[in-house]
Amino acid sequence: MNMQQERNRTERMRAIIADITTMEVDAVVNAANSSLLGGSGVDGAIHRAAGPGLVHECRLLGGCRTGEAKMTGGYNLPARYIIHTVGPVWRGGSFNEAGLLASCYTSSLQLAAKHGLRTIAFPAISCGIYGYPLDEAARIAVETTRAFLDIGGTIESVTFVCFSDNVLESYHPALTEMGAG
Ligand code: AR6
Repeated sequence: MNMQQERNRTERMRAIIADITTMEVDAVVNAANSSLLGGSGVDGAIHRAAGPGLVHECRLLGGCRTGEAKMTGGYNLPARYIIHTVGPVWRGGSFNEAGLLASCYTSSLQLAAKHGLRTIAFPAISCGIYGYPLDEAARIAVETTRAFLDIGGTIESVTFVCFSDNVLESYHPALTEMGAG
């Protein structure tokens, strides 16, 4: 990889503090549960902001397995689409939580790329109610995304949307290691 390619790769990832429901991107990712019918945390915020059309579409999807992803319209969100993925519940680390969390990122990015999307925003999947340790989850998010971007494709920008300072602080070491910020 030459220096220009290296710079393009790292500049495509960033972490910011924001409410993901305000993001003007092609797709926001929702940290859903396997019913896809809504919940609390970021899932509740997305359903509230998107409006009732979202749950109607979600009912047609027949749920979603942990580590997989499904897409709907964005309804009243500024984002055009919502990619719903189901993160693992943290159970101490020996139940393939890391593999399943990585799969959430890969499946979501694959779905976005399949539809030719360019910009995507992720919340810290599994880091709220599902209890995944933040630093470890941020490292998986960044490394998995970097590996995906390395393959090439339509995705131009990936934003890790953090709801608070401590979440943002977890992304910084992982992004700095990649030469991104
Ligand atoms: N924008 C960005 N990030 C947010 C927002 C927001 N508006 N609201 C919360 N977060 P969580 P999980 C952060 O609990 O751990 C739901 O009930 C939050 O601070 O939303 O994957 C689902 O239906 C945290 O850092 O998701 C499932 O049952 C991160 O988003 C379950 O929770 C994820 O926290 C999924 O749990």
